[in-house]
Amino acid sequence: MPITAFIVEKLRGLANRLDAAATRRNACDSSRSGSGPVLDEYIVGMPGAQNAINVLPGWHQSFPPAIGVVAGDSAFYQDPRIAWALEQHGSIENQAILEFGPLEGGHTYFLEQHNPAFIHAIEANKLSFLRCLITKEILGMSRAKFFIGDLMQWLQKTEVHYDLIVASGVLYHMQDPLLMLELMAKRANAFYLWTHYMSDAAMPQDDPRRGALIGEIEVRDFHGLPVRLSKRSYYGAWRDKSFCGGMHDLHRWIEKDDLMAAIRALGFTDVRIAHDEPDHRNGPAFSVFARREA
Ligand SMILES: C[S@@+](CC[C@H](N)C(=O)[O-])C[C@H]1O[C@@H](n2cnc3c(N)ncnc32)[C@H](O)[C@@H]1O
Repeated sequence: MPITAFIVEKLRGLANRLDAAATRRNACDSSRSGSGPVLDEYIVGMPGAQNAINVLPGWHQSFPPAIGVVAGDSAFYQDPRIAWALEQHGSIENQAILEFGPLEGGHTYFLEQHNPAFIHAIEANKLSFLRCLITKEILGMSRAKFFIGDLMQWLQKTEVHYDLIVASGVLYHMQDPLLMLELMAKRANAFYLWTHYMSDAAMPQDDPRRGALIGEIEVRDFHGLPVRLSKRSYYGAWRDKSFCGGMHDLHRWIEKDDLMAAIRALGFTDVRIAHDEPDHRNGPAFSVFARREA
């Protein structure tokens, strides 16, 4: 290339870079001064909690009225299921708590109000994890740490012994719920579950809630017990930004009686149930609290 053409090309490149820098400077100036259009990724107005909520639309949970924000409808921060779990367990003051599937952190906040030493809350969904961090900031939580990733990996790798595991709304989303129970039993002597279950009595063959089931029932050996597992699919529901199910499309529900027997087979002698809702719109569901001698 002749030297003059080379110099012209260099000068043109420099001019383009100067133009781009000027455009960026103007954009910043106009958002600072409040005039002109605001770029997509910026939030205008007085900084505050509602702005933080609005960053990630699709909330399920509401916040305590004193916070003064509009988010979702479910008051997980005062969920009677968690209140029941704590009544069964007794005080969690200074205890080590493991929570699975915190969703948006409402249950975590409830637990934190009872002064545990710490809460490890494991959430696999990216948007849910970010909503948990927003909740943590808005509610000023200090004893909970949120981790993003698969709870099964956490159970396999952590060396922490927990005083209580809270697994609300999670077991029935697992590909291998029996392995989850087995691993939980290695990490704690007490746990709380809220879970859907299978039951022909509660959900007869013509029940529309069976629509998500796929294939034949599997029977697995679990500590010498035959356990019936029903395979299910989400049928694309996970495409919704509010989806709060599992990380694999194929997941399994356990037969109610078999679940109770499996928990006892793991050495949990004190097993209590509550909130049994055979007619729950998504399928029969109940709460289980289980404890065994340390
Ligand atoms: C149905 S929601 C339950 C939310 C809340 N715990 C409750 O009881 O209402 C299930 C939650 O578990 C999370 N989850 C599902 N599979 C998970 C996994 N393998 N590891 C960690 N979190 C998971 C989902 O993203 C979601 O937040």
